[in-house]
Amino acid sequence: MHPWDVIIIGAGAAGMMCAIEAGKRDRKVLLLDHAKAPGEKIRISGGGRCNFTNLDTSPKAFLSQNPRFCISALSRFTQHDFIALVNRYGIAWHEKTLGQLFCDSSSRQIIDMLVTEMRKADVTLRLQTSPSDVARTDTGFRLSLPEGEVSCSSLVIATGGKSIPKMGATGFAYELAARFGLRLVETRPGLVPLTFDPAMLQRLAPLAGVAVEAEVSCGKQSFREAMLFTHRGISGPAILQISSYWREGQEIRISMTPDIDIFDALRRARAENGRQNLKTALASLLPRALAEIIADGTAGNIADMPDRELRRISDAVSSWRIKPVGSEGYRTAEVTLGGVDTRDLNSRTMEANGVPGLYVIGEAVDVTGWLGGYNFQWAWSSGWSAGQAT
Ligand code: FDA
Repeated sequence: MHPWDVIIIGAGAAGMMCAIEAGKRDRKVLLLDHAKAPGEKIRISGGGRCNFTNLDTSPKAFLSQNPRFCISALSRFTQHDFIALVNRYGIAWHEKTLGQLFCDSSSRQIIDMLVTEMRKADVTLRLQTSPSDVARTDTGFRLSLPEGEVSCSSLVIATGGKSIPKMGATGFAYELAARFGLRLVETRPGLVPLTFDPAMLQRLAPLAGVAVEAEVSCGKQSFREAMLFTHRGISGPAILQISSYWREGQEIRISMTPDIDIFDALRRARAENGRQNLKTALASLLPRALAEIIADGTAGNIADMPDRELRRISDAVSSWRIKPVGSEGYRTAEVTLGGVDTRDLNSRTMEANGVPGLYVIGEAVDVTGWLGGYNFQWAWSSGWSAGQAT
């Protein structure tokens, strides 16, 4: 007999949900975290209001080498199940946009709710501790903690990804999984701002802080949301979304006026008031700073500009092709793409195929959601699923 039935490493969104569910099944659960408080990423998420799920959650909003892997967990514990839990606690929420649900007041309410649920389920939470070694035994696992050894029959890895190392994110999950023979899908930062080379940055410097509604595409994927020029390159929801699909060396296409046929609009401007210059005509369609950059070097009245020239200008606005040089990396990335290979996990329980009793959940798994509450939903769903099995 082990002192603990289940030990979960990582008291983030996935680890807490798993602890609650296992505890409700009368399993003796120990939840460990090296941080001072549980759910630190929940606390800072959604600008302090936690975008805790998305009404439109479906497998198409997730990236993985096996896009079907997430189906089982997402359908066993859905966005509506999480909303029902939030409602039981009387936490007020609202839909901001595109199905994204946020707390009206504070993300702390979500953490408090989970901590209360853990208390009710008799989960033991131990903070500021982390195993220096994890070994498999005949009947389970043994962990070496600074305060001594602990053992369990089920071990859950819930230590998340590498994003925001300043907050204590580590590659612990990947190292531990690899030690137990699980395969890894190469990791890279996702939902991250993209950067430009110095020459492009210098050219676009006056645009820092300018935002437009844009349609941004990479390969076959596109997103239509706000885009923001920054001192390092481009950011904003549309760019964060596309960054998860973008690979170094690839080009992205940006339409900065997705609702307007800009060629047509410029031709109309030329017909109606040909004595204006291009900058003035563009400024009625785009933020002024952007109009100035695009019109830069173009002299004279718009009346003197042939269709060919207007077409070139409209392409620069509605089909801008740009090769970012990189991304801001894990320092600012909201998530980590890749992770523990789903081929080595059971999609219903998250248990490792070759290592009975070992589970991997949350961001550590090669399942990554779009921006908009999808990543927390994956954490809740995968944590819940493991919690039924551990
Ligand atoms: P999570 O990272 O939450 O938890 C892992 C836990 O493991 C942490 O508590 C950590 O301290 C602990 N840990 C790590 N290494 C350890 C070790 N060696 N020993 C012991 N403990 C260890 N998603 C979303 O859906 N809506 C949103 O609004 C946002 N907003 C957002 C903002 C920002 C700034 C970031 C960085 C991320 C988001 N996200 C988000 C993404 C979301 O936060 C993320 O996908 C989930 O927190 C993942 O949950 P996990 O439980 O898997 O990992």
